[in-house]
Amino acid sequence: MAPFLLFLLMMISTNTTTTTCHAASNNNINITRSFPAILVFGDSTVDTGNNNFILSLFKSNHYPYGREFPNHIATGRFSNGRLVPDFVASAFGIKEFIPPYLDPSLSDYELRTGVSFASAGSGLDDLTSVVSKVIPMSAQPTFFKKYIKRLERVVGKEEANKIINGAFVVISAGSNDILFNFYDTPARWFQFNITGYQDFLLQNLHDLVKQLYDLGCRTFAISGLAPLGCVPIQITAKFNNPFTRSCLEDENADARVYNSKLEKLIHTMQASLPGSEVIYLNIYDPVIDMINNPQKYGFVETKRGCCGTGLVETGPLCNVFTPVCLNPSQYLFWDAIHPSEAAYKVVSKSLLDSFFNHAS
Ligand SMILES: *[C@@H]1O[C@H](CO)[C@@H](O)[C@H](O)[C@H]1NC(C)=O
Ligand SMILES: *[C@@H]1O[C@H](CO)[C@@H](O)[C@H](O)[C@H]1NC(C)=O
Repeated sequence: MAPFLLFLLMMISTNTTTTTCHAASNNNINITRSFPAILVFGDSTVDTGNNNFILSLFKSNHYPYGREFPNHIATGRFSNGRLVPDFVASAFGIKEFIPPYLDPSLSDYELRTGVSFASAGSGLDDLTSVVSKVIPMSAQPTFFKKYIKRLERVVGKEEANKIINGAFVVISAGSNDILFNFYDTPARWFQFNITGYQDFLLQNLHDLVKQLYDLGCRTFAISGLAPLGCVPIQITAKFNNPFTRSCLEDENADARVYNSKLEKLIHTMQASLPGSEVIYLNIYDPVIDMINNPQKYGFVETKRGCCGTGLVETGPLCNVFTPVCLNPSQYLFWDAIHPSEAAYKVVSKSLLDSFFNHAS
């Protein structure tokens, strides 16, 4: 089991018009803020298809991914449907789907309203994407700079500035680093204990935000970690008996520590970057609530994914030959790592609620 899992994990690491917002009817939230665009940086939780366009094995542009996406398109999103940034962009009245920046057919309209620079398998630690050849977080600002140049050609420098200044920037990363470099391989054990490694990741996150700020971004929404000890593949890695599956409490405790450090860092960053607004996206609480109270959300399974056995399959191992559960909306996880669209919907609602309570 262990060498297989290690192999698997290696594979995983391989992968101007200003819109005025109205009350989002489906969320009953009174949206009084407006954003001209949404810009997204991170990993598979927010990659809407960039890995389709790079040489990496970690792709999801094949069935059964996208099964519940409009027209059942496997866009490269690591889920059966939409991701959190799609729901957020929709609630803001920006657009329904966020395209990947690397899509060569990107229209000027898509450019103006925002794109995702995220790459599945990526992390805040460059080591996380070395084997996989996915786009590390540290390289995503390079693509952002190219995006700005192109936007300037389309709308002019002044308008481009306005768009970047007003954009809602989402950053979601960190789990791959901790899973692949710390829990499941000893890649970083020689340099760091978990405390030191968390601080290293947060330092890199800080540098990234500073870089984006210097390029003109002002509003940042930064995701904390989910309860990583409840990710199906983590449970599989640590328990030999598939019938006694429960969350790994020590890994969840580490995630909570990381999140509280991140919240502190967010306050520091907002104070040190004039005119910025930095928001903490609490992913942990809605996910742990779905695990503890599945019936509240109509879930019947929270410990394994819908694709295949749900214990290990993700990316290339969740494919056209893999049997899929009957009703993915009853599953918290779509594959052994990634949430289902149903779970992402719950998380999005929770984020939007807390964001607008905070903003009002
Ligand atoms: C929505 O916002 C408007 C304008 O700020 C306010 O008058 C109204 O009470 C709000 N409605 C809700 C449901 O919060
Ligand atoms: C982690 O390492 C640092 C030094 O790098 C040390 O001060 C700290 O006590 C260590 N923490 C744990 C939990 O071992």
